Amino acid sequence: MSTNIIIGAQWGDEGKGKIVDLLSKDSDFVVRYQGGANAGHTIKFDDKEVVLHLIPSGIFNGDAVCIIGNGVVVDPAALVDEIKGVEKIGTSLKDRFFISSSAHVILPYHKILDNVREKSRGDDAIGTTGRGIGPAYVSKVARVGIRMGDLLDDARLTELVQTNVNEINKALKHVHNEPEIDADDILFNLRPIASQIAPYICNTTTLLHKALADGKDILLEGAQGSLLDVDHGTYPFVTSSSPTAGGACVGSGVPPTAIDHAIGITKAYSTRVGNGPYPTELHDETGKKLRKNGAEFGATTGRPRRCGWLDLVALKYAVDLNGMDQLALTKMDVLDDFDEIKVCTHYLVNGEKTDVYPVETGALENVEPVYKSFPGWKASCLEASTYDELPDNAKTYISFIEEYTGSYCSIISTGPGRTQTIVR
Ligand code: GDP
Ligand code: IMO
Ligand code: MG
Repeated sequence: MSTNIIIGAQWGDEGKGKIVDLLSKDSDFVVRYQGGANAGHTIKFDDKEVVLHLIPSGIFNGDAVCIIGNGVVVDPAALVDEIKGVEKIGTSLKDRFFISSSAHVILPYHKILDNVREKSRGDDAIGTTGRGIGPAYVSKVARVGIRMGDLLDDARLTELVQTNVNEINKALKHVHNEPEIDADDILFNLRPIASQIAPYICNTTTLLHKALADGKDILLEGAQGSLLDVDHGTYPFVTSSSPTAGGACVGSGVPPTAIDHAIGITKAYSTRVGNGPYPTELHDETGKKLRKNGAEFGATTGRPRRCGWLDLVALKYAVDLNGMDQLALTKMDVLDDFDEIKVCTHYLVNGEKTDVYPVETGALENVEPVYKSFPGWKASCLEASTYDELPDNAKTYISFIEEYTGSYCSIISTGPGRTQTIVR
């Protein structure tokens, strides 16, 4: 029996989908605990490549029960599309998929607000995914949100939508100078979608407490990454939820005392989508090569990802924040043909060298990375089926990451497929 959290250790897209899929085979429950359809988790198996945005990445490997936890914000239309997509490739969700009645609902007005607020920020735009995430969490925290359980009660749903639309129309008309929206239209489109989702909605907190009492294996799947955390990330260039370990408990109802391990997922280099500080970003040919080798384009929006060397100062911060006792190091193969590989070990701040990650707003914009250089391995990591078989220079690189972070690289990923993985 174990309960483990899978957490992005960077700015998202570290390969969480692949690793959750891999570990799901030995799990009884897989639970998404925050975020929404801003996430894009890619899973490659057989001859298929599937990108999941809401359904947990455990749905294709083994028979784990997959849960959308209370901490997630659910776009019902996006979810119905995803359910259809999963069923189309022959995976049944019957008795294997549940949605927390306490998870909040994203409605069209959240997406409208997301986009008008981004527009009004001008050059300071966050570069959100436009999926309505921020405004949906605003509704939740302001205690006016609509929850999945409300979809089961039409009278309550109607009243909540009308009240919200009345308020939001004031902002659209008087603040943003945008066209108003119509509550009846929203309800007309929402009702048939709600009835398709209704069978999956239940009290998942109790389900998980029973699972814990029965000694089941539970995997808690984070979306985004630690550096996008609303509290601990590069605020305000963050998402509006808590991908970090604490968020896993809040967003699922699993207590902290039940957690055995926090497994951080990190690429062997780094990427970021959207705006915000990124000390090791490379604007040169090396950055382009990382993007090309790693096929670094957003799984949700298709935007080219910003690319750069691994930032160990930031990774160590993520390890400490989450208590990551293990790391899964992904995309090692992407570095196969580099002559030289660098990692950032320190920041220069006003000429002073430090290994402290600064949390003050804007501070990360003013650091200059200090690098340590490693010779490339110039060989295919994919050829190795055990850790020992990895090229020597690759092992030296991994050892340095372990030494620096104090965390153990228990999984080395050498390609997008399930079998392209070394588990130590
Ligand atoms: P997530 O959001 O953390 O689940 O990551 P994404 O799915 O957005 O992005 C990771 C991308 O890298 C996907 O296209 C994966 O198929 C791919 N990927 C994962 N692990 C590896 C790896 O070890 N090597 C390579 N080349 N690709 C990988
Ligand atoms: P996965 O789970 C990478 C980024 C957006 C933007 C910021 C805020 O696939 O790793 P939001 O729409 O959440 O309000 O956008 O967060 N972002 C992600 N970047 N991977 C993700 O998810 C992301 N989800 C949000 O690009 O910078
Ligand atoms: Mg992704």
